[in-house]
Amino acid sequence: MGYVLGISAYYHDSAAALVRDGQIIAAAQEERFSRKKHDPRFPQRAVNYCLGEGFIEPSELDAVVFYDSPLLTLDRVIKNSLTVAPSGREQFVAASRALLGAKARFAQELEACLGEPARLLVTHHHMAHAASCFYPSPFEHAAILTIDGVGEWATCTLGVGTGTRIELLSELQYPHSLGLLYSAFTYYCGFKVNSGEYKLMGLAPYGQPRYADIIRDELIDIRDDGSLRLDTSAFGFLDSPLMTNPRFEELFGGPARKPDSLITRREMDLAASIQVVTEEIVLKLVAHITKLTGTKKVVMAGGVALNCVANGRVLRESGLEGLFVQPAAGDAGGALGAALLASHQVFDAPRKVNPRDALSGSFLGPAFSTHEVEAYFDREDCPSHHVPDPEERARIVAGALADGQIVGFMSGRMEFGPRALGARSILGDPRRPDMQSRMNLKIKFRESFRPFAPAVLVEHAADYFELEGESPYMLLVAPVKQERQLPMKYAVTEGDDMLPILNQPRSDIPAVTHVDYSARVQTVGADANPEFRRLLKAFHAKTGCPVLVNTSFNVRGEPIVCTPQDAYRCFMRTGIDLLVVEDRLLWKHEQRPGSGDESWRSEYEPD
Ligand SMILES: [Fe+2]
Repeated sequence: MGYVLGISAYYHDSAAALVRDGQIIAAAQEERFSRKKHDPRFPQRAVNYCLGEGFIEPSELDAVVFYDSPLLTLDRVIKNSLTVAPSGREQFVAASRALLGAKARFAQELEACLGEPARLLVTHHHMAHAASCFYPSPFEHAAILTIDGVGEWATCTLGVGTGTRIELLSELQYPHSLGLLYSAFTYYCGFKVNSGEYKLMGLAPYGQPRYADIIRDELIDIRDDGSLRLDTSAFGFLDSPLMTNPRFEELFGGPARKPDSLITRREMDLAASIQVVTEEIVLKLVAHITKLTGTKKVVMAGGVALNCVANGRVLRESGLEGLFVQPAAGDAGGALGAALLASHQVFDAPRKVNPRDALSGSFLGPAFSTHEVEAYFDREDCPSHHVPDPEERARIVAGALADGQIVGFMSGRMEFGPRALGARSILGDPRRPDMQSRMNLKIKFRESFRPFAPAVLVEHAADYFELEGESPYMLLVAPVKQERQLPMKYAVTEGDDMLPILNQPRSDIPAVTHVDYSARVQTVGADANPEFRRLLKAFHAKTGCPVLVNTSFNVRGEPIVCTPQDAYRCFMRTGIDLLVVEDRLLWKHEQRPGSGDESWRSEYEPD
């Protein structure tokens, strides 16, 4: 047996993953255990979880692999500081101190965590991304595309994978980065870099791309092969802690929006503009890499691969024979890629290609037994109903959903990656016109414009969405079928106020239909969480609708819940009506007011 532990840390979303002979045993982000969103610290709790899930001692590890080369990153920081000196001096001093410490700190923290020294290996950042999407993919041979902000020097790599071999053919280097370009607009529109990109994508359909030509003419030079050059004189990230600078502000009509201030037409149009340009670049990259490698099967990772609107266009417009996107496409997934890479390339583990994929639905995190769940609720004296029959349980929960109740749903192993796929989800009835604003404002405490995703039984997906194939990881956006769409009274192109737009139904599943009639679809098939699939079937049997609203089980600023305790706390602090944890059902009206620990709120980080 060859065990390899992969680790990503010290930037954002640290994570650990355990692989045995090329097979994935476990993977989880540290934030789920530490309860600190995007926790960048050494993932001690995630490492402990992975070893426990594999039933192994640290001494049984053949190697521990770090997902990034700190020395190469330091090289980039030094060279960058030479080009922008003296204005980048402070940045340089802070970054190089952090980096010089990272390698020594990693070895120290790892040894403290494992209780003994381990054989330490290091991968390149984009190689880890490439491995994270190629090895688990259902393809023996595929083109590999990784796109992110920056990792060491690279911002985008093109490669090819065959069997257990991965070859990176070319790369685009810092500061020329699609990820940093998108993040600059995220920052400029008042959202947090590295996490607010998703909000910017959600905002885009409210706007018109009236700044797209300015982006193309003044900020970047896009080549036919999808490579690009940024005009660095308009960005702040080279020589300051800010993403943009006065020249950027001049181009787009004034200073950046302050976080939490009113979102205006300008931000909606900026979001639409950068989204269109991003899609254009991703489509060009995919066209180029398929030509370069001679294959029409493509795998993708890196933060930009989470842009599911662009992914949906790739699927519809690139004429591919297959597309696989790693659901943990950001740096957390680098831990998994690093472990898989070492397992296959250092320890020669064979690769068995799974015709679906090798991620087991991305359910790679901890699960809790019915005994543990029972013990927790008994100890806390929380009134709960034990419903051991799965079919009966599904019927009761489906009935509650059909009555308009909102359900917190926890079942089986936790998802790896940013999306909840039915193991740690908040669910609702998508047919209700008020469900989107209810869930945003009373459950998630987040911006009312943000859309929700539909989970649909895979066998009925084609009745609701223009989607070819499956989308088990919620990584593709597809249009809602035309016959289900309703005409809108208020145009999305007028005024600053989004409320009239939000409050008009856009289809017969309004809660999951975005203003441009698109939906971020999750298809739920045989490989999905079985409890979740059973619930969808019961909801379909009761209502004739095979779709549920599926959003992650957390509130704004909090990581997705991991344990029954996390789930109960979130349940008690929000408007969730019914909590389902394995075979236990808890109704809000039966709980004692004030149950759950008050202290958790202090750990919140604003989004
Ligand atoms: Fe990355």
